[in-house]
Amino acid sequence: MSESYVFYQGEIVNENEVSIDIRSKAFNYGLGCFEGIRAYWDDEEQQLYGFKLKEHYERLLQSCKALYMDIPYTAQELCDWTVDLLKKNNFKTTTYIRPVVYKGSTDLPPSLYGDDDNRVLIYCHPLDKYIETKGLRTAVSSWRRISDTMLPPRTKATAAYLNSALASLEVLQNGFDEAIFLTEQGNVCEGPGENIFLVKKGKLITPPVSDHILEGITRDVVMELAKNELNIEVVERSVARTELYNSDEVFFSGTAMEVTPVIEVDRRIVGTGEEGQVCKKLRELFFDITKGRNPKYAHYCTPVY
Ligand SMILES: Cc1ncc(COP(=O)(O)O)c(C=O)c1O
Repeated sequence: MSESYVFYQGEIVNENEVSIDIRSKAFNYGLGCFEGIRAYWDDEEQQLYGFKLKEHYERLLQSCKALYMDIPYTAQELCDWTVDLLKKNNFKTTTYIRPVVYKGSTDLPPSLYGDDDNRVLIYCHPLDKYIETKGLRTAVSSWRRISDTMLPPRTKATAAYLNSALASLEVLQNGFDEAIFLTEQGNVCEGPGENIFLVKKGKLITPPVSDHILEGITRDVVMELAKNELNIEVVERSVARTELYNSDEVFFSGTAMEVTPVIEVDRRIVGTGEEGQVCKKLRELFFDITKGRNPKYAHYCTPVY
């Protein structure tokens, strides 16, 4: 019997009590959407901090709206359930939280219409580093990013991650650590599960939300820290592939990936081939904030205990 607890349909239950029907639309067609959230453990304070919980649940509700999947909870209620769930699991380590909203219906058509069987599940597990690295070797994938007119990446739809998986498969088989997507138009988009930044002549540049990216919550934090703490100009604009090659720095941002330097793109060394100064400073600021150590940003963190 697992001692892991999950939130399912309005209550916290033992994980073993939840199963998914093999005929469900979620399983057969990937009809669902999800979030990825972290809670950071601070050993000194013996405290666990949910990071930007409200923003994640607001994004989940926006995804649900776009996908026509109504659920009976507010963002605040989902935050409260998450805190209860972390307490119930008694986690005293950095933790990954995965809320999923999915179609439980076993009707045959892959329809979002006329079906209100929307299930809400939240599970969590310890996760320290997503990838242990000093810098990622990346390559542009030959798979293009799905566009907003096909399968909107903004909705964090379950089915969309097949696109991510194909890009990752390709570059891992070719010996790289992570993929970079281009849009159908050929602009730099994002990674399979993270946003991308370039540093060029002292400016921080990142693809705009209209270039089919997920509007990353870590991306917002990085832009805010660059402007307010490092006094760096932040530019959201389309980026050409070869700009990556002659950038001073490239790095990823994301809940799982956190702030992680990219040291190689398509076998071209980026900058010095080591983590750049801007990435380093942003990474350090970011980790301080996630552990509730910066009073200016303490409101980003929800203490669990
Ligand atoms: C495709 C994609 N882009 C970007 C991100 C980064 O978003 P966030 O910083 O909100 O985790 C994620 C992770 O959720 C993602 O899956």
